[in-house]
Amino acid sequence: MQKIHAAITAVGGYVPDYVMTNAELETIVDTTDEWITTRTGIKERRILKGEGKGSSDIAVEAVKNLLQKKGIDPLEIDLVICATTTPDFQFPATSNVICDKAGMKNAFGYDINAACSGFLFALTTGTQFIESGRHKKVLVIGVDKMSSILNYEDRATCIIFGDGGGCVLLEPDTEGYGIIDSVLKTDGAGRAHLHQKAGGSVKPATVETVMAKEHFVYQEGQTVFKFAVKNMADVAAEIMERNHLKADDIAWLVPHQANKRIIAATYERMGLPEEKVMINIERFGNTTNGTLPLCLWEWESKLRKGDNIVLAAFGGGFTWGATYIRWAYDGNNQ
Ligand code: UT7
Repeated sequence: MQKIHAAITAVGGYVPDYVMTNAELETIVDTTDEWITTRTGIKERRILKGEGKGSSDIAVEAVKNLLQKKGIDPLEIDLVICATTTPDFQFPATSNVICDKAGMKNAFGYDINAACSGFLFALTTGTQFIESGRHKKVLVIGVDKMSSILNYEDRATCIIFGDGGGCVLLEPDTEGYGIIDSVLKTDGAGRAHLHQKAGGSVKPATVETVMAKEHFVYQEGQTVFKFAVKNMADVAAEIMERNHLKADDIAWLVPHQANKRIIAATYERMGLPEEKVMINIERFGNTTNGTLPLCLWEWESKLRKGDNIVLAAFGGGFTWGATYIRWAYDGNNQ
């Protein structure tokens, strides 16, 4: 019997309307457009405005976009896996909220938290449900409302992140297309350098934790940068090697959008020209779990059946990984 692969058969995405430019950040913190552009590659990012809106609201728009493009009913979805670092609530899982709001009444769902690598971890997890033959339509979402955990007095972090998200549909394929391989890694010792100090069970929220601004992203930028440059490039090279892929065999690299310099280190290590790399960091910044599906969403029309695509990410935890996909359809689907 032919092996069942999990093929991505549709992509959806959404970014909020509000555009926060570097010029606006210049009025909030002591920074300049020149510093942000040369150090990160970011020009603007999207921010979700409005009371009572969370990551699920971004995700629901992305899911609706996918379902409408693919022409399928929300009731057909079996499983929803949501990768997010900014869940709507501590509990219930954001996937539950998304299922409810998008009418996916027949699906069960859960969240995955692996920071910026979360989408790859969720994609690999979703793949197992398809490969086992148990499920036919699995939705994998990567979404974050990073503005909800940013300190807009800290110029080293607030300039990097933005809000947004995307999703992919996984379906069985027996012709050799789909998710072929994944290398995923974690190193918990890295948690010291990038985390949120309070709000979890170790340090529940108190007046003091709020006053001390411990519910915001804490990042030691340079340390994280060094680990990211090395590990994202290493893991991308590893997945090429073990799948016997040469640079010429690869149609696209889809890198996590944390810093243009980290992206460059990765594609240079892989021997790829910049034209083969999906880069939208200048418009969306770092949307954490949203970066990879947002790239696929933006580049979908350019993708061709049989394209070899490598996704790579690095994030808090530390977590990192790479996934090799043999793309399953031409252009914008259908
Ligand atoms: O996605 C999850 C994983 N995260 C990452 O991959 C992020 C990795 N880190 C980075 O991308 C970079 O480290 C940053 C973009 C966060 C910072 O860039 P950097 O080149 O590493 O800067 P730095 O932290 O070494 O700071 C250099 C200088 C410092 O000033 P002094 O001490 O040299 O006077 C900072 O205070 O730049 C200063 N600085 C700024 N200046 C203007 C820091 N942030 C800003 C700012 N505007 N926004």
